Amino acid sequence: MSTDLCVHLLPQLVDPAELVGRTVVVIDVLRATTTVCHALAAGATSVVPCLEIDEARTAAAKLGGIVMLGGERQGRRIEGFDLGNSPTEYTAASVGGRTVVFTTTNGTRTLRHAEQASEILLGGFVNLSAVVERLSRAAAISLLCAGTNGEITAEDSLFAGAVVDGLERRGRQLCALSNDEARLARDAWRTVAMSGRPLAAVLRECQGGRNLIAEGFDADIDTAAVVDHLTIVPRYDVASGGITSS
Ligand code: MLT
Repeated sequence: MSTDLCVHLLPQLVDPAELVGRTVVVIDVLRATTTVCHALAAGATSVVPCLEIDEARTAAAKLGGIVMLGGERQGRRIEGFDLGNSPTEYTAASVGGRTVVFTTTNGTRTLRHAEQASEILLGGFVNLSAVVERLSRAAAISLLCAGTNGEITAEDSLFAGAVVDGLERRGRQLCALSNDEARLARDAWRTVAMSGRPLAAVLRECQGGRNLIAEGFDADIDTAAVVDHLTIVPRYDVASGGITSS
């Protein structure tokens, strides 16, 4: 079956209007989308993505009740927030049964860039097969990489390529409408997969991995590299403003 699938290696490389009517997967492997997967798997009822720190504080105040503020700037927990952006901070004890209001430098911004899509899903290596399975029913697909501060990152591109590869293995071939970024990402992923190198070692060499090592979050790379650790696919519902598991 032929598939209309585009990869965008940065949000800046696609106009939001081009995402109308499409299923979009937002990708920020290190670490925002991996962390949202962990938060929902740990029992958070919803994750509310915010662009700015003040917006997050206001949203948390409005929600009241049992709300946790999470996210980062320059990789570190924001002053006064309950949690940073390490996936392992999001446990049943910290977020179970709670709403998480969340803001990160690139990941939550990319989610908001996708708001005109018909469906918005979140992916990382931790839920790779679940994302591929979910997309096997989608008609027009866009894989939207967050990158880092306007720069393309290999870790997000490789995950996009792994999704393209997974769909092709299920018999869905790229159609003529698909862009060359999809082919580049797929071929880059296949080179990595054929090398037999551990994924965590590959991620450590990527821009996001190097940033995390410099900031002292090396362990988060190992967490993000556990392929298919989770079976949930987070879904962002723009109307309610929340991400829930689906
Ligand atoms: C982001 O959204 O920019 C990233 O998740 C940064 C980080 O790893 O903390």
